[in-house]
Amino acid sequence: MTDPTNDSLFSRAQEVIPGGVNSPVRAFRSVGGTPYFVARGEGAHVWDVEGTRYLDYVQSYGASIHGHAHPSIVDAVTRAAAEGTTFGAPTEREVLMAEEMCSRVPGLEMVRLVSSGTEATMSAIRLARGATGRPRIVKFAGNYHGHMDSLLVAGGSSVAEDATSDSAGVTEGAVADTIVAPYNQVPAIRSDVAVVVVEPVAANMGLVPPAPGFLEGLRAACDEAGALLMFDEVITGFRLGVGGASERFGVTPDIWAFGKVIGGGLPVGAFGASRELMGHLSPLGPVYQAGTLSGNPLATAAGLAALAELDADAYGRLEATATRLADGLADAIGSAGVAVQVPRVGPLVGIFFGDTATAVTDFPTAQASAESGMYRRFFRAMLDRGIALAPGPYEALFPSLAHTDAHVDQTVSAAADAAAELAG
Ligand SMILES: Cc1ncc(COP(=O)(O)O)c(C=O)c1O
Repeated sequence: MTDPTNDSLFSRAQEVIPGGVNSPVRAFRSVGGTPYFVARGEGAHVWDVEGTRYLDYVQSYGASIHGHAHPSIVDAVTRAAAEGTTFGAPTEREVLMAEEMCSRVPGLEMVRLVSSGTEATMSAIRLARGATGRPRIVKFAGNYHGHMDSLLVAGGSSVAEDATSDSAGVTEGAVADTIVAPYNQVPAIRSDVAVVVVEPVAANMGLVPPAPGFLEGLRAACDEAGALLMFDEVITGFRLGVGGASERFGVTPDIWAFGKVIGGGLPVGAFGASRELMGHLSPLGPVYQAGTLSGNPLATAAGLAALAELDADAYGRLEATATRLADGLADAIGSAGVAVQVPRVGPLVGIFFGDTATAVTDFPTAQASAESGMYRRFFRAMLDRGIALAPGPYEALFPSLAHTDAHVDQTVSAAADAAAELAG
C-alpha cells in the first residue's frame, strides 16, 4: 500500500465526511487548494502526511497555547489514561480544575465543566434565561459563540465565510429571541433581555479590539436594564493574561464561557459565575445541564498541566512574541506597498488587508477587508513558504509559547517575500 498523500486522503475523506472535514474552515474553501492532513505536531510546528513541515499559527484555533505535544501535557494525559479514561463519577482533578480557574479569574466563584465551547455558551445562556426568567439574548454581529441554534445569527468565523450568516436548519423560532447589535456600539437593552453575550475581544471576524468604553458601557447598560452580561472567553480566557479579558479590561461580567486553553488541547469547555447565579443549575436549582464526558479525566489532566505553566512570566513572553510578530508583519507587508492592518491585543494578532485609512472596528469593516480577496493570496504565498496561517480571513493568528523570536523572524521574512509577490 502506498503512503497516503494530502490529495488521496482528501478524496477519501470527501466520500465519507461532508466536505472531507469535521469543521468547515478546515476544508480550505475560502483559500483554495487541498488541506494539508496533519501527521504530527511538536512545539510551533506541524508535519503533514507527506512530511512537509509548517510553522503553525493555527494551534488548534487557540487550544494549544504551549504549542503541540508539550511534554508535561503529554505526560499528564498519558498517566491519566492509564488510570481510566472516564467514570461518570466525580474525580479530584475536577475539583482542582475548578479551584484553579476560580483562583485566577476575579469574580468567578463556581464553574461547571463541559466538553466544548459551544456547550459552554449554550448552557450559560440557558442559565441566564432560567435565572432571570427573561427570554431574549443580545449578541453582536461578527461574534461567534459556537454553533447553538440561537447564536447562529450574524456569526463570525467560518459561518461568515458562507456569506450568509445564518444556517439552514435553524428555525425562525430558535432565533426569534436573539437580537443582533453592531460590535463596538452599546445597544439599548430592552426589559425582556436575559443576557448580553459578547466576545470581549472579537477574534472570529479577524481580530477586532473592543473600542475604549465599549465593555464598560455594556456593563452599565446591563445593570440598568437588569440583564446579565456574559463574556465569551473561549478564546481570550487564560490567554490574555492570568485572569483573561475581564481582568485585562477591568470589567467583570456576570457569566463567563471558557474553552480552548483550559483543555490543554483536549475537548473542554466551562461556564461559570457567582455562587448565587450558579445555584440555579441542577442539581441545586431548576436549570438542567449535564454531560457524560463533562470533567473528563484526560481533559482535566491536560488542562491542569497547561494552566500550571501559565504564570505572569509566561504571559509576558507570549505577549512579547506576539508584539514582535505584529510589528514585523505590519512593517514587512506595508513596506512592500500592500495596504494592511495588523491589530494585536495582548498575545492575539490579526491581519486585515485593504484600506488602512479606516480602522476595522466591526463586522461590515471586517467583511470589506475579507472580500478584497487578498487574504487568500497571502495565505497561499505563506503556505508555499512553510508558514501555516488559518485557512480563512475571519480567524486570528495564535502564536504559542513554543514560538521563538527566530520563528517570528522567519515568518516576517516570509511575509516580506509573500507581500512582494502580491504587490507584483
Ligand atoms: C469565542 C468562541 N466561542 C465559542 C466557540 C465554540 O467553541 P467550540 O468550537 O469548542 O465549540 C468558539 C470556537 O472557536 C469561539 O471562538
